[in-house]
Amino acid sequence: MEMSQPPAAEADWWRQAVVYQIYPRSFADSGGDGLGDLGGIISRVPYLAWLGIDAVWLSPFYPSARVDGGYDVDDYRDVDPQLGTLADFDEMTARLHGRGIKVIVDIVPNHTSDRHAWFREALAAPKGSPARDRYIFRDGQGRDGAQPPSDWPSTFGGPAWTRVQDGQWYLHLFTERQPDLNWQNREVRDDFLTTLRFWSDRGADGFRVDVAHGLAKNLVEPLERLDGQAALVSPLDGTHPLWDRDEVHGIYAEWRRVFNEYDPPRVGVAEAWVHPSRRSRYASPDGLGQAFNFDLLEANWNAGEFLQVITDNLADAQQHGASTAWVLSNHDVVRHASRYGLPAGDCLSSTQNAKTWLLSNGTSPEPDRGLGLLRARAATLLMLALPGSAYLYQGEELGLHEVADLAPDVLQDPAFLRSGGAEKGRDGCRVPLPWTTGGPSFGFSTRAAHLPQPAWFGPLSVQAQEHDPASTLALYRQALSWRRRFHAAENLEWMPGTNGQVLHFGRPGGWQSVTNFGPRAVPLPHGTVVVASSPVQEGLLPADTTAWVIPPAPDRVARRQSRRYGPASDAVPLIRRDSIGPPPGP
Ligand code: NOJ
Repeated sequence: MEMSQPPAAEADWWRQAVVYQIYPRSFADSGGDGLGDLGGIISRVPYLAWLGIDAVWLSPFYPSARVDGGYDVDDYRDVDPQLGTLADFDEMTARLHGRGIKVIVDIVPNHTSDRHAWFREALAAPKGSPARDRYIFRDGQGRDGAQPPSDWPSTFGGPAWTRVQDGQWYLHLFTERQPDLNWQNREVRDDFLTTLRFWSDRGADGFRVDVAHGLAKNLVEPLERLDGQAALVSPLDGTHPLWDRDEVHGIYAEWRRVFNEYDPPRVGVAEAWVHPSRRSRYASPDGLGQAFNFDLLEANWNAGEFLQVITDNLADAQQHGASTAWVLSNHDVVRHASRYGLPAGDCLSSTQNAKTWLLSNGTSPEPDRGLGLLRARAATLLMLALPGSAYLYQGEELGLHEVADLAPDVLQDPAFLRSGGAEKGRDGCRVPLPWTTGGPSFGFSTRAAHLPQPAWFGPLSVQAQEHDPASTLALYRQALSWRRRFHAAENLEWMPGTNGQVLHFGRPGGWQSVTNFGPRAVPLPHGTVVVASSPVQEGLLPADTTAWVIPPAPDRVARRQSRRYGPASDAVPLIRRDSIGPPPGP
């Protein structure tokens, strides 16, 4: 393995990359069975290159019963036969690399599936055996051990413990078909190092780490009670028995050593639902390198919330030498075009608000789809102007809304099935993509897709948008192309125009982004508008719109001398969340 240090630019490709998330089973089907596959991705590599992204992240494509959309993995070093073969993975990677696109694979270390060879071995083995020690088996409480070993709940509802035939219980923080691994077991740790090398050797450039904050658990007896405080976001001191414990970083330090065996070093992006102040530990250069910043995804559409999230996260990233990984949509939340078309709920995050709305099958309150899309376009353009990397979710470039009215009998998500309908679940953002205006599944497959697509997908298909300069697809392409041209240091300077309605900032090189969150048009800064999320005219920026502006040359020179915001050594002191007062009025 080549150990020499690669040039910084290549080693740091991920710091400001635009990563496109592919949910393989819903992206494109080449096999004609209604389920997306690697052949489908291969067939769409030209599209991904044309779109202008830097990398793809593939949600799991491993052998799986799909109890949890593939996040129940039977074998970490193979491809689900329904999705293809290892040879297909190699071909896909080669084709993507050939177009300059990096590949990030999803790794699911908190739990295996119940079909994994290790779990089958554990069930067949006696209490206290090495096979059981790879998982978290315990005796129950009460008479005959008939009560679960602790009061820990499963994230998808119900208890986190299931009893097996000999009376012991095993832990599963998700469904009972996803038993949690014991990360105190050396064999478990070593096996994942083997998996990281397996995919790195096959050309994977990085790893998205599922439930990164869950691997280290306090298993000291008696198991700590939670007494109902089961929130995913844990306390700030790393003392929660299940989430975000400090020891978890010892695991990622080992992973980092493996990443650094490669040239360029591999990178990890943590899915860690932790307090923002603890996120950067996951993203440190000694750890995974990156962690999703879910704050923007949670924020409601208003200037104050966005300003706070941006300043806070850039400050944290700068302090820890990390880059920020911005996200507006992914396979776990209601699409942002739908979220922003809803009235903001009382004290609720944008995603919580939308989850409640989903329970009405998308009817109450009646969403304003036009407004939602307008704002989604503006939010995306703002996000793409920020320093750091940006993660896009398949279909957002088409302006897709959530499919909120899927009938109960087609739903696949355990969040729906295990909650007895108390949650609608995440299938509505996982409906297969429309590629063409018609056909059995709008070009996704030669037959009906594994989740039904609504008729309104046709006019939003790639075919319907690819030649329309006003389309959302065209906006994404323009933005990605300008972003590439504007590529600059990870600095940002707030401009005086920033207030309770408008966020206006400049980036190195002099270009600026300005977003109007308010209901009335505001004056545009001087200069040339190179891309805008909705039509601008007569020097005005309409409501719910972002524009990128190149100011006249003298302004750019002056700005270059001015304050910076980012990892540069002469950066100004950072604005912390606690030092930000309410944004100045309009
Ligand atoms: C996070 C993944 O994004 C989600 O889809 C999955 O259900 C859970 N982790 C469990 O693996």
